[in-house]
Amino acid sequence: MEPVKLRKLITEGAGGIDPVSVDAYMKNGGFAALKKAADMEPEDIIAEVKKAKLLGRGGAAYPAGNKWEHLLHIPERPKYIVCNADEGEPGTFKDRLIMEKLPMKLLEGIIIAGLVFKAEAAYIYVRGEYRGIQKRLIKAIENAGAAGFAGKNILGRGFDFDIHVISGAGAYVCGENSALLNSAEGKVGRPRIKPPHLAEAGLFLLPTLVNNVETFANIPALVGMGGEEYLAAGHPDSGGTKLICLSGHSRNRGVFEIPLGGITLREAIYDPELGGGIAGGKKLKFFHLGGQSGAIGAPDQLDTVYSYTDLKKAGLSVGSGAVVVMDESVSIIEYLKGVTGFFIHESCGKCVPCREGNRQVYNILRKLSVPGVAVAGDLDTLRRLIRTMSDASFCGLGQTATAALNSAWKHFRAEFEANVKPASAA
Ligand SMILES: Cc1cc2nc3c(=O)[nH]c(=O)nc-3n(C[C@H](O)[C@H](O)[C@H](O)COP(=O)(O)O)c2cc1C
Ligand code: SF4
Repeated sequence: MEPVKLRKLITEGAGGIDPVSVDAYMKNGGFAALKKAADMEPEDIIAEVKKAKLLGRGGAAYPAGNKWEHLLHIPERPKYIVCNADEGEPGTFKDRLIMEKLPMKLLEGIIIAGLVFKAEAAYIYVRGEYRGIQKRLIKAIENAGAAGFAGKNILGRGFDFDIHVISGAGAYVCGENSALLNSAEGKVGRPRIKPPHLAEAGLFLLPTLVNNVETFANIPALVGMGGEEYLAAGHPDSGGTKLICLSGHSRNRGVFEIPLGGITLREAIYDPELGGGIAGGKKLKFFHLGGQSGAIGAPDQLDTVYSYTDLKKAGLSVGSGAVVVMDESVSIIEYLKGVTGFFIHESCGKCVPCREGNRQVYNILRKLSVPGVAVAGDLDTLRRLIRTMSDASFCGLGQTATAALNSAWKHFRAEFEANVKPASAA
C-alpha cells in the first residue's frame, strides 16, 4: 500500500472558512471536543494525551501528557495556561498558519487545557511581528466568548476562563519558555534557572503550563478521536501528524501536514505533493532540519523516516518542523556564517560561552571563507568552541547554536579544510 503522505488532523478546513466565525467552525465539527472534554474527568483527558504520545511541537519534543500530569498534581493555585506563539525560529511558519487560518482550533485546545487544570486564565504570547494575527486572535477570542466558549461560565459549567493576547518582545530567546514568562511579566526576556520547573513556578511564580501553538491545536483532534486512534495516525513513539515548513530551494514551499513516521526525507523534499524536488533542476546539497538550532543533513540521509525516533538515530531532529532545502550552489561555510550571524544577533548576552563563543565561531568561519587565511589550529579551536558552547551555555540557545556547524563538519569536512593554509606556508 502507498504510504499516506498528507494527513489533515490539524489543518482540515484551513482556508475554507471564515477563521473567526464560531458558526463556521462548529459546522466543521468545531468545539465538539471541548463539549466532550467538559464531561470527562481531568485525569481521563490526561490519560488520552499520554496514550496518544503527543510530543510538544515547539522544538524540545517533551511528552505533553507528562507535562500535564505533573501540573495536575501540583496543589497550589491559581494555575495559568501559556501558549508559546513566539515562532522566532527561521524557516518556521506553521504556528502562523494555525493562528491565521484556524484560530478557533487553537482556542479550543487552550480551553480544554484550561478545563483540565481549572486554570485562572490563558495568555497567548504572539511573535511581535505577527500584528495582524494578534488582532485576529483577539477577534476570535471575543467571538468564542460571545458564544459561551470562553470568558464567564463556559458551557454553563460555572468555569470562568479569560484568554489574553500578549505581543512578543521581538527577540528569538523570548521563545525559550522561561524567558517568555519573564517577558510576559514585563521583565527583560532572559532565561531563568531551572529548576524550579515552570509547572511549579511559572508565570508570576505560580503553577503554569507552557505549550506550543501546534501542541494545543492537536488537542481537539486528540480528544475527539481518543488517544489510541491519534497514536495510530502517527509513529508508535509519537502519535499524530507534524506540520513541516518547506523553504529554501525546494520547488514547492509552504506548510504541509504529514503523518509522523509516514514519509521519508526524500518524499518530503521530492514528492510532487510535498517539496516537488529542487528548483531549477539543480542537485540537492544539504537540508537543515528543525530550525537554525537543528542539525544539517546530507543527501545520503534522504531515506531516513521523518519521525522523532528515526531522525534522532540519524543525528537529526524534528525541532520546529523547519525543512530548509539548499542546492549545490550554496557554500556550506557561507551558510554557516549566516546561521552564526543569527545567533550573535539573538544571544541575550547573559552567559560568556554563547555571547563570546558565537563571535569567535563567526571569526573563524570568516577566515575559512577565503583562501590561505585560516591555519589548521583554527579548525581545532572551532571543534573546542563547539564542545564548550554546547556544554557550558546557560540556555538552549547557546547549547544548540553550534548544532548546524557540528553536523556540517561531519558531512562537509573537505569544505572546512579547503581554504586552510598548508602547514609549510603557515
Ligand atoms: C532559544 C529558544 C527559542 C525557542 N523558541 C520557541 C518558539 O518560538 N516557540 C515554541 O513553541 N517553543 C520555542 N522554544 C521551546 C520552548 O522553550 C518550550 O520547549 C516550548 O514552548 C514548550 O512547548 P511544547 O512542549 O508544546 O513544545 C524555544 C527554545 C529555545 C531554547
Ligand atoms: S545561552 Fe546564555 S547568552 Fe545565550 S541566550 Fe541563553 S542565557 Fe543568553
